[in-house]
Amino acid sequence: MVFLTRQTEFAASHFLHNPALSPEENRRLFGKSNAPSGHGHNYVLQVTVRGEVDPRTGMVLDLKELKDLIEAEVMQAMDHRFLNHELPAFAAAIPTTENVAVEIWRRLAPRISTGQLHQVRLYETPDLFVDYFGETNGR
Ligand code: NI
Repeated sequence: MVFLTRQTEFAASHFLHNPALSPEENRRLFGKSNAPSGHGHNYVLQVTVRGEVDPRTGMVLDLKELKDLIEAEVMQAMDHRFLNHELPAFAAAIPTTENVAVEIWRRLAPRISTGQLHQVRLYETPDLFVDYFGETNGR
C-alpha cells in the first residue's frame, strides 16, 4: 500500500455565520469572521490517495487524472470564489475549514478511479489545518 499526495493552492473568500443564531451570538462565536463582506484565505490543499502500485505503470494512479480531477472539482469550483454565495453546499453549511475539507472530499471521493481517497488536508493558514478521512474511516 502506497500513499500518494498532490498539493495545490487556491484563494477563496468566506464569512462565518449561522442563520439559526442571533446576530449577537454570531458575533460572539465567529468574531471578525462574521462580517458579511467576507475575507480571503490562500488555502493549501493536500489530497492523498492510497493504493497498490500497478506493476505495469509503477504508479498508484494516473497523476494526470488526479491533477485534472482536482482542477475540475476543486479549482474550478472554489478558486477565486466567494464560498458562501457561489457554492450550493455552503448555502446550508458554514464554510469553515472543516466543512470546506468535507466538501472537497465529497467532490473527489466518488471520482477516484484507481485506489481510494485516503485523506484531505486543508490549510487555511500556515499554522491551521484540518484532516478529513471520510465518514466511514473514523478509526
Ligand atoms: Ni476565514
